Amino acid sequence: MKKIITVSAPGKLMLFGEHAVVYGKPCIVTAVNQRMFVMAEQTTTNELLFDAKDVGIKNYKKRIDALGKGQIPKAAQFVEIAIKNFFLCHPEFISGSHMLGLKISTTSEFSSTYGFGSSSAVTVCIIKALTELFEIKLSKKDIFDIAYKTVLDIQKIGSGVDIAAAVYGGTLYFVSGGKMIESLNIKPLPLVVGYSGSKADTVTLLNGVKEKAKKYPEIITGIYTDIEKIVILAKKALIKNDLQTVGELMNFNQGYLESLGVSTDRLSNMIYAARNIGAYGAKLSGAGGGDCMIAIADKKHEEKVKQGIEQNGGQIIQIQTHAEGVRREL
Ligand code: MEV
Repeated sequence: MKKIITVSAPGKLMLFGEHAVVYGKPCIVTAVNQRMFVMAEQTTTNELLFDAKDVGIKNYKKRIDALGKGQIPKAAQFVEIAIKNFFLCHPEFISGSHMLGLKISTTSEFSSTYGFGSSSAVTVCIIKALTELFEIKLSKKDIFDIAYKTVLDIQKIGSGVDIAAAVYGGTLYFVSGGKMIESLNIKPLPLVVGYSGSKADTVTLLNGVKEKAKKYPEIITGIYTDIEKIVILAKKALIKNDLQTVGELMNFNQGYLESLGVSTDRLSNMIYAARNIGAYGAKLSGAGGGDCMIAIADKKHEEKVKQGIEQNGGQIIQIQTHAEGVRREL
């Protein structure tokens, strides 16, 4: 009987420390309960067949021995390179008579424009799906390592935090490259999430900050060090469930992100509206330049905070924090 595997992985929101984490500082990320799904099966054609209607990929085909070569549409890059990297680590599955082809399709509960880490979630799903298809056991760290290599092969820059959230789930204290991945035992967070309606390219933003750091090394180094202090205090406040302090630290973090030049007028307006209406704190989440902002607010202020965000051009996205990491569904 033909084996069809379905796996899923969560999207993520950055709580603290984005950008600085790329330069060796810690950050805090939470996995959200909107998931990416990947269906995978073996075929007899010696080709990769790939469909992802959410991102406009239909009937994409590539010979298995040509994976990673030639032109790859942007929306197929992470899938193709993840498969290539899996086989690089496990050549036994493409040697001799073992390997046939693969049919892969993806679908997502969240839009790829939210900045929830869809590329990382799909990469992690692919690697997990292949371990299930070929019936091999890889540890979470093994999956992280292959997926992180995939991100670096494509983007050349990045900390791997989105990958860690997709693999491990929960809320993580994370240091670049997976040097530290610590799961935080905390209560679900009362987050309000507002989508700013536009998507910026993460790599462009990362390179913009890198250029700034070249011009103003002593300033940007200081900013990263201050962000690290915020992250360390935020970890303690989150563990104590001290939401007042978590909010105040979010506000500090936003100040530094503004200094790095990654906020936008729309994001800042949404953030200030949330704070003025009574949120404990608010900041952008992720690379910036668009995507989402987050606010932390108690039940009493939640509705008003949502309205304030909407009145400033935001779209509220319902999520729960601390979602489960990558898992087999079927
Ligand atoms: C993106 O979710 C977080 C950034 O710090 C990039 C990265 O860590 O790779 C902006």
